[in-house]
Amino acid sequence: MATTPWLLLLCLAAAASSGALQARAQPDNKGFISIDCGFPGTTSYIDSTTELSYAPDAAFTDTGSSHNISVEYMKPQLLLSKRYHDLRSFPDGTRNCYTLRSLVPGLKYLLRATFFYGNYDGLDRIPIFDLHIGVNFWRVVNITNMGYALQLEALVVVPDDFVQVCLINTGAGTPFISGLDLRPLKKTMYPQVTATQGLVLMTRLNFGPRDDSTFVRYPDDPYDRIWTPWINTKIWTVISTKKRVQSIDNDVFEAPTAVMQTAIRPRDVTKNIEFSWDPEPQPNDPSPGYIAIMHFSELQILPINAVRQFYVNLNSELWYPSGFTPTYLYIGATYNNLPSRHNRYNVSINATSNSTLPPIINGVEIFSVISTTNLSTYSQDVSAIMAIKTKYQVQKNWMGDPCIPKTMAWERLTCGYEVTTPHRIKAVDLSVTGLSGDITSSFINLKALQYLNLSNNKLTGSIPDALSQLPSLTIIDLSGNQLSGSIPPGLLKRVQDGSLNFRYENNPNICASDNSCQSAPKRNNKLAIYIVVPLLVVVVMVSLAIVIFFLVRRRQQGEAST
Ligand SMILES: *[C@@H]1O[C@H](CO)[C@@H](O)[C@H](O)[C@H]1NC(C)=O
Ligand SMILES: *[C@@H]1O[C@H](CO)[C@@H](O)[C@H](O)[C@H]1NC(C)=O
Ligand SMILES: *[C@@H]1O[C@H](CO)[C@@H](O)[C@H](O)[C@H]1NC(C)=O
Ligand SMILES: *[C@@H]1O[C@H](CO)[C@@H](O)[C@H](O)[C@H]1NC(C)=O
Ligand SMILES: *[C@@H]1O[C@H](CO)[C@@H](O)[C@H](O)[C@H]1NC(C)=O
Ligand SMILES: *[C@@H]1O[C@H](CO)[C@@H](O)[C@H](O)[C@H]1NC(C)=O
Ligand SMILES: *[C@@H]1O[C@H](CO)[C@@H](O)[C@H](O)[C@H]1NC(C)=O
Repeated sequence: MATTPWLLLLCLAAAASSGALQARAQPDNKGFISIDCGFPGTTSYIDSTTELSYAPDAAFTDTGSSHNISVEYMKPQLLLSKRYHDLRSFPDGTRNCYTLRSLVPGLKYLLRATFFYGNYDGLDRIPIFDLHIGVNFWRVVNITNMGYALQLEALVVVPDDFVQVCLINTGAGTPFISGLDLRPLKKTMYPQVTATQGLVLMTRLNFGPRDDSTFVRYPDDPYDRIWTPWINTKIWTVISTKKRVQSIDNDVFEAPTAVMQTAIRPRDVTKNIEFSWDPEPQPNDPSPGYIAIMHFSELQILPINAVRQFYVNLNSELWYPSGFTPTYLYIGATYNNLPSRHNRYNVSINATSNSTLPPIINGVEIFSVISTTNLSTYSQDVSAIMAIKTKYQVQKNWMGDPCIPKTMAWERLTCGYEVTTPHRIKAVDLSVTGLSGDITSSFINLKALQYLNLSNNKLTGSIPDALSQLPSLTIIDLSGNQLSGSIPPGLLKRVQDGSLNFRYENNPNICASDNSCQSAPKRNNKLAIYIVVPLLVVVVMVSLAIVIFFLVRRRQQGEAST
């Protein structure tokens, strides 16, 4: 009874301090996460071009090492943004991951990973490795030029409240990463993105920009998509307006007004607008499907009797089924919903016979599709085993999904692989791994657990009775630890009815029979309180100091940014 206020304080302090610590690993008020991989310390900085706040990566990954790129690539004329000055590389293990938390399950997200090698390791050899989103393949990271920053972007549905981005060592050099961004989209946006299909960006062009070196992104694009300026003055003429280009009802792409305010038309009005691309075969998909989204808006007030109407053709066949007339200062788009597969993609936009004006185009996005059908492990099991990993600081290969792919499943776990339902963790064997501290209640969240072996460690504290609630658990081995107290009644009952094989020998402080439990407890409890109370005072004071530190710092940051 008397301990209640202390417990309450402890909980409050713990909540406050973990809240403050976690703030760094969570999306900001726009839902953005922007990480400068390899950036040291715990303090974010504001990027001068985007005014976005970039966080160091320590709160998002627990392996790898930080490096600076080599000085010859730091030259100011390369106009490298600060996040490319350092990176994180992963010399150990096959799979290393970043975990982005506090997401909305089922929402669509834009993920963007950036890579700038900059000869950071002095080897003058760019590695090639794979990139996964959770348990699904994203891309081979194959950088063709030392001084070139590769950006990979994917639009995916995130099924859980977290998503992992994993770098896979495929034996062709040490994986590394320079930056990682996450941006939430609306559920209705990009209808081609589903639970089983993601889009990987090939190109996103802003035709006829005012300034051909300026990329449109946040804040002009509230989703921070990056639109590359594109103009070929030999064959195209720019049309532009300063007026706002309006969104329409049910706009599923929300192209930003800054992109829509400029367009191109053929310089020779009798010609067509033409562009093309070649498919990029992937190791797991030699002929990937493509989705193209073309954005149109009329930017000129047309004289009476003037008509601008055009066909959009792919490989000499109508791609959009009728003539298209862009609306004055309103967004319009033509796009395919089902991925198309060809050996080459020739787009030609030509005026219809009724049209008195040449065709125009304001912007285009081209994506290839990836499959996201591989199911990750049951989300509650993943959260529980990640908490167990953190609690006991388990090293091993505990990165990414615990069960998938099977070749990278976590050592010491056994998973049940069902065909239609998410995979479950069935057995945990952490015997002889140097575990210390108490038995965490996270084990109780592994609801499909059948076998738990924590024998021959340095575990202390009492045995949680809640373990008896795990319906499938048939074997528990806690022998060879420093556990204390009595065997909880729930576990005893299951041992007695024969549904549980329970081993706890070689725990000197466990009292197996009621008799041996009677004499000791009082003294033990008192001793425990004497130790715990000063400890609590320390914990509370440290937590308060942390809270005050963060409050002060947040105020300072608030002042700095206003
Ligand atoms: C990277 O460079 C910064 C200064 O630009 C320096 O403070 C830091 O120690 C360097 N880090 C490494 C890992 O060399
Ligand atoms: C799904 O998992 C299988 C087996 O691990 C793997 O071979 C395949 O590449 C994965 N599919 C995707 C789209 O990542
Ligand atoms: C990497 O890119 C180079 C040059 O484009 C190509 O020749 C090579 O096959 C690619 N490697 C992989 C593994 O994709
Ligand atoms: C695309 O255009 C090129 C060059 O104009 C031509 O050689 C090629 O046959 C075209 N491909 C298709 C599939 O139409
Ligand atoms: C424009 O393209 C369509 C569809 O490919 C074609 O039928 C038509 O002849 C073309 N029109 C002109 C004026 O080139
Ligand atoms: C061109 O105009 C005629 C007459 O107004 C109309 O019947 C025809 O459908 C129009 N063609 C297109 C492609 O819109
Ligand atoms: C638990 O692990 C220990 C050490 O690896 C092993 O000797 C023991 O048989 C295991 N217990 C059970 C019940 O499997």
